[in-house]
Amino acid sequence: MKIRPMFAGDLDAVLANESTAYDFPWTRGVFADCLKVGNQCWVLERDGEVLGHAIVTIGAGEAHLLNVCVRASAQGRGLGRELVMHALEKAFEAGADALFLEVRPSNHVAGRLYESMGFDEVGVRKNYYPARIGHEDARVLVLDLERFFAGRNASRS
Ligand SMILES: CC(C)(COP(=O)(O)OP(=O)(O)OC[C@H]1O[C@@H](n2cnc3c(N)ncnc32)[C@H](O)[C@@H]1OP(=O)(O)O)[C@@H](O)C(=O)NCCC(=O)NCCS
Repeated sequence: MKIRPMFAGDLDAVLANESTAYDFPWTRGVFADCLKVGNQCWVLERDGEVLGHAIVTIGAGEAHLLNVCVRASAQGRGLGRELVMHALEKAFEAGADALFLEVRPSNHVAGRLYESMGFDEVGVRKNYYPARIGHEDARVLVLDLERFFAGRNASRS
């Protein structure tokens, strides 16, 4: 298993995985824009097969996890945690002090993952996500990277 940068040639696999995992998957154009603007775009690969992805944007000392996704058939085996950990490490190495993300209140799997890693809820964005009927709020979570990596063997550039 390895996590490596995403390339344009990965987008077919990324979109296929995305559509197994989300009711409202991102489009090819959104991923292409993320690659174009230089966001950190990662894929998790096992035996040459792309099983998941994570997208992080960094600015003004803050990182934002825009997307983390594991193909439905590969979920529940620790890959999502590996991807989030990788995103935290790379954001910290790039100089971010905190990593923010949004999550649906109904997404208990992701919520439990983030809480188990020490994320704190710092706000709610009303009607942030499309839902099957209307919209759903977003919980805004943050992890203090300085504190998270204190005592761990991580270095910053
Ligand atoms: C959220 C997601 C990335 C997690 O990836 P995963 O590979 O399934 O998760 P992992 O196997 O690494 O498990 C990590 C933690 O998630 C939680 N979790 C995983 N499966 C769970 C389940 N079926 N029920 C409850 N909690 C669960 C647990 O806290 C678990 O930690 P533990 O194994 O130490 O108990 C993945 O489920 C996914 O792609 N979901 C759809 C897309 C999505 O919701 N992305 C996040 C948007 S904010």
